[in-house]
Amino acid sequence: TNNPKSIIVIFGATGDLANRKLFPSIYRLYRNGKLSENFAVVGVARRPLTNEEFRNNVMKSVEQFQEDDIDHESFASHFYYNPFDATDLEHYQKLNSFLLELDDQYQTEGNRIFYLAMAPNFFGTIASNLKSEGLTSTNGWTRLVIEKPFGNNFETAKALNDQIREAFDEDQIYRIDHYLGKEMVQNIEVIRFANALFEPLWNNQYISNIQITSSEVLGVEDRGRYYESSGALRDMFQNHMLQMLALLAMEPPIKLTPDEIRSEKVKALRALRPVNEDEVDDYFVRGQYDRGIINDEEQIAYRESNAVDENSNTETFVAGKLLIDNFRWAGVPFYIRTGKRMEKKSTEIVIQFKDLPMNLYYDQGENIYPNLLVIHIQPYEGITLHLNAKKGDYGTTSTPIMLNYDNTQKDKMNTPEAYEVLLHDCMRGDSTNFTHWDEVALSWKFVDIISNHWESKAAKQFPNYESGSNGPKDSDALLEKDGYQWWSVL
Ligand code: BG6
Repeated sequence: TNNPKSIIVIFGATGDLANRKLFPSIYRLYRNGKLSENFAVVGVARRPLTNEEFRNNVMKSVEQFQEDDIDHESFASHFYYNPFDATDLEHYQKLNSFLLELDDQYQTEGNRIFYLAMAPNFFGTIASNLKSEGLTSTNGWTRLVIEKPFGNNFETAKALNDQIREAFDEDQIYRIDHYLGKEMVQNIEVIRFANALFEPLWNNQYISNIQITSSEVLGVEDRGRYYESSGALRDMFQNHMLQMLALLAMEPPIKLTPDEIRSEKVKALRALRPVNEDEVDDYFVRGQYDRGIINDEEQIAYRESNAVDENSNTETFVAGKLLIDNFRWAGVPFYIRTGKRMEKKSTEIVIQFKDLPMNLYYDQGENIYPNLLVIHIQPYEGITLHLNAKKGDYGTTSTPIMLNYDNTQKDKMNTPEAYEVLLHDCMRGDSTNFTHWDEVALSWKFVDIISNHWESKAAKQFPNYESGSNGPKDSDALLEKDGYQWWSVL
């Protein structure tokens, strides 16, 4: 088989992401036969650790998996640790010699992934040093995987991009947006482009509005320092939410290649109508959570969290109305909302279809239920179609019914995790589910106008929603003034 052979160098190997996501994902790939024995992982970080200590961390992070035929120790034997100072060129040279040895030992054909899973301040430096010290010149391929945040606005993102582009070509750069690795996010395209039932209706003649919601129960936890300079707009909206929007709005690609798909997404983002600074309040709502009760537990307010300013102006909730000025979508609002410390953890997309021009089956002349297509991204995975059908009685009114497809795997073990899918794609050289620079640039340009406005004008009413609620009232008002409501389904 053509299982990828490569060395994966993880910068930030003692961090949260490596332990919580990357090691388990590598394990699952290994277990599922998606990795050959020809792989090695080199963890680098500041902390001085021995190989043995590092391997113990790795084993701890895969403890949850117990299969008879996989020996955790032999899995962990592929892992090596290298204490590292990102600013010291000598460290790069030593690392390079070590990688050459491993390449020999594991027959990885000179293939290398450099995965930057650490604080972003060194992204640029590391990329340049990797090149200047020769770590990117091998006889195989070399790829750079880079985590968010990719800049803090268009300007800083561009500076970072220019810097890494000096060392890597665009097609060697894999910008992670882990939402693109989620099974049901990848399903958006299939649902759209593999069903005669939907694609003909997927436009402004039949769709009245589209809603994308991603709510979390968790608050800022111990990430106050990062989050204070980010907020929900930069943390979730600029990347995950706009990526889902692009997948929902894009034209059918002519082929399923990374270039074709990404260029359709870019086109959709290009058609986003920019919100002018004086219109921000008409199209966007910001929120910040207050105290409240979730699952019988008292929650503290955002402003009371660690490393958060007691008068913080940072938003933990965003709702927005977006318009796409192209032939397909003119006039169809896309409503997007995301927030922390909300009622439940859930990501859902609702496509609301227009009412029929004349419907004979009004329920007592009152309610008529629109057809909805709901794509459940997480934690429940599935698709629900809301239809109307006859009630089982003598009347002639209709009743809403639901057709449901449950994608939640019975055998949880086999549901690929986002990072697992993305790592595998990267090793195979498939960049479809990574964000191209053009997408990043357009997303920042759209978002910058809103964040500039919010930063220049402190929110008067923060905190403005209770922990455990569905966000500020203004978020409901945003839809009500268009005659719609947020569908909170299932
Ligand atoms: C991350 C954000 O990108 O996504 C976090 O930085 C957020 O603040 C997380 O909690 C949500 O991801 P998921 O997969 O749990 O929906």
